Amino acid sequence: MSNNVNEHFYFGSNFKMHKTLAEVKTFVELLKDAYEDQPNLQLFIVPPFTSLGGLQGIVRPQNLWIGAQNMHWARSGAFTGEISAPMLSDLGVDLVMLGHAERRYKFGETDNEIQRKVRAAADNRLRVLLCVGETAKQRRAGTTHEVLAMQLKIALLAFPQEMTNRLMVAYEPVWAIGAGGQEARPSDIAPSIDHIKRTLETRFGENARQIPVLYGGSVSESNCADYVRETDVNGLFVGRAAWELAGFHNVLKAATTFRQVPRENNTDKWTI
Ligand code: PGA
Repeated sequence: MSNNVNEHFYFGSNFKMHKTLAEVKTFVELLKDAYEDQPNLQLFIVPPFTSLGGLQGIVRPQNLWIGAQNMHWARSGAFTGEISAPMLSDLGVDLVMLGHAERRYKFGETDNEIQRKVRAAADNRLRVLLCVGETAKQRRAGTTHEVLAMQLKIALLAFPQEMTNRLMVAYEPVWAIGAGGQEARPSDIAPSIDHIKRTLETRFGENARQIPVLYGGSVSESNCADYVRETDVNGLFVGRAAWELAGFHNVLKAATTFRQVPRENNTDKWTI
C-alpha cells in the first residue's frame, strides 16, 4: 500500500462498549469474506479491550487494522484499571484511538493527558487515531477553529515528524456524536476539515499529506456520500450505523460508490 492518502479510502467503526469477543470475531470473519481484495480500502475496527487478545492470530483481511479505544501513557505502574502501550503492542494491536469525545467529556480527559498518551503510543510504534472536535457551545461561540487547533497542537506537540505515516485524525464534533447527536451538514464540517489539514501542515509541513483526516458523528447510509463528495475527508469513522455488518457494508458502499468517478487532481483507482 502506498503512502498517498488520497489513493485510499479509510473506513472504520468504534464499537464503544458493545460486543463480546465472539461477536467481534464473527464480525472480522465476515469482513474477511467481503473485503479481502480491496487494497485501496483501509478498514479498521476499534472493539473493547476484552476482544483484543482473542483476535490475535485469527484470520482477518489484510486491509483491516484492529484498534484499542484508549490507553495510559505510562509503561506500567500503580494505575488500577488502566492498560499501557506495551500491553497493546504485545497483543498485536495496530492502532490506538486517543482523545475520543466520550473520553474527554464523560471521563474528563484533558489535552495534556492526551498529549502524553499520543507520545507514548508513538514511542511504542502504535498507529494513533486522534479524535478532535468542538462542543455545541464552543461552536455557538464561534471558537470551532481555535478549539480544533488547540486540541491538535497540544496532542501532537511531541509527536515525531517521521511517524506521520502512522497518524490519523478524526474530526468528530461533540454535538454530532451518538444517539442524541445532531446530524451535521457537509457545509458545517468542510471548513473544519480544511482547518485541521492546515493545522497539520503548519505542524508537520509536507509530511502532513500522509495523515488521513476522517469525519465521524452520526454518519449513516443516507448522509455519508455527501460528506465524502462535498468535503475533503479521506474517510469516515462510524459508530452505531456500522455495528452490524449489514450497516457497515451499506454505509461503506454508499460512501464510496461515487468515488469511482475520478475527481480533479484525484488519482483514485480503487473500486468497491
Ligand atoms: P456515532 O458515533 O456514529 O454513533 O455518532 C461516532 C463516534 O462516537 O465515534
